[in-house]
Amino acid sequence: MTRGLFAGVADSTPDPILSLMDRHRRDPRQNKLDLGVGVYRDSEGQTPVMGAVKAAERRLFDSQDSKAYVGLAGDPAFLDAFTGLALGADVPRDRMARIATPGGTGAVRQGLELVRRTRPQARVWLPDPTWPNHTAIAEAVGCDWRLYAHAVPGATTLDGDRMLADLAGMAPGDLLVLHGCCHNPTGLDPSATMWAEIAALCLRTGAVPFVDLAYLGLGDGLHTDAAGLRHLAESLPEMMLAMSGSKNFGLYRERVGMLAVLAETADHANRVQGALNTLNRLSYTFPPDHGARVAQMVLDDADLRMMWEQELAAMRARLDLLRSGLADALEAQGSADLGIRHGRGLFARLPLGTDRIAALQETHGLYIVGDGRINIAGLRAPDLGRVAAGLAAALR
Ligand SMILES: Cc1ncc(COP(=O)(O)O)c(C=O)c1O
Repeated sequence: MTRGLFAGVADSTPDPILSLMDRHRRDPRQNKLDLGVGVYRDSEGQTPVMGAVKAAERRLFDSQDSKAYVGLAGDPAFLDAFTGLALGADVPRDRMARIATPGGTGAVRQGLELVRRTRPQARVWLPDPTWPNHTAIAEAVGCDWRLYAHAVPGATTLDGDRMLADLAGMAPGDLLVLHGCCHNPTGLDPSATMWAEIAALCLRTGAVPFVDLAYLGLGDGLHTDAAGLRHLAESLPEMMLAMSGSKNFGLYRERVGMLAVLAETADHANRVQGALNTLNRLSYTFPPDHGARVAQMVLDDADLRMMWEQELAAMRARLDLLRSGLADALEAQGSADLGIRHGRGLFARLPLGTDRIAALQETHGLYIVGDGRINIAGLRAPDLGRVAAGLAAALR
């Protein structure tokens, strides 16, 4: 018997989305479509560097004269720019603590770490379904987590009644994880009325919302997409926000993210800031700076910001066009809407079993994740009829 340290390392389950990408890459068919991985794609199927980002990177290349360490919390100008983008000017900054993190994933991780260390008995409520990494991180951190109803596959709106009924069981100090906009994987978000009901429920139960904002600007626009979480920040004593710059700045591999905590008092916020700095110190000391600085330059320069907002609007318009095109094509095939037309952001989740998903891959070259999630941006307009015919047959 081997006594090697690493002989005891357990097998890991391969990430289903990455395995799917790999199979797609190896498929020689011309008409194959990757509807799996959650990145934005243009009409050529590319995920380009945004023009405003490229321009900021050029400026940064010319002007940066040091790569010395920044600080445990990251660049304050980036934290201010990201906070302003999500929350506007009205949320009191003296009640806030913030750190830059490696992507939205880092923010989710550090947020859950903070809560587990501060109140180990807090229960973490996650939507069913949700981004699989939410459950995986909650589990890894050692949180006591459970699911609340969000929407069944193929629904055209989220199931507000069941959601509120489940959440009525929240206790003071529990954490309510919400997708800020463009829910992954369903694309179905709360209405304004529903956000108000969620805020009232948090006030009544003493639960604290943790909003994961990974797709700001890709739903109905920067302002509308942030309205729900701004309502929470303005009406509740405490909340947390995990923000990603991966999708809306196209800065995926640079790892741009922020964790923000709104505390009841400035004194609490000061202590939370110390705890967050420590969490960064224990994980990687300093968070990545390049992408954060680029995003900040784009947000704080009037010309670059205008350019970025226009590029974001074009991404949104493409998603809208593909959504209505696919919904029309499915209807022409006698299939129901399935949340595609009115869903927001990159994703919709179709009521497809694993056998149907495998058949779509084999016969139509459509690569879809095992839970039926499709990335709308992976579609190409000329393929909509063909895709709808394949999907409609699978859905029958
Ligand atoms: C809901 C949600 N949260 C967070 C993230 C994290 O994004 P990143 O770590 O790439 O910034 C994603 C990305 O897929 C997501 O869908």
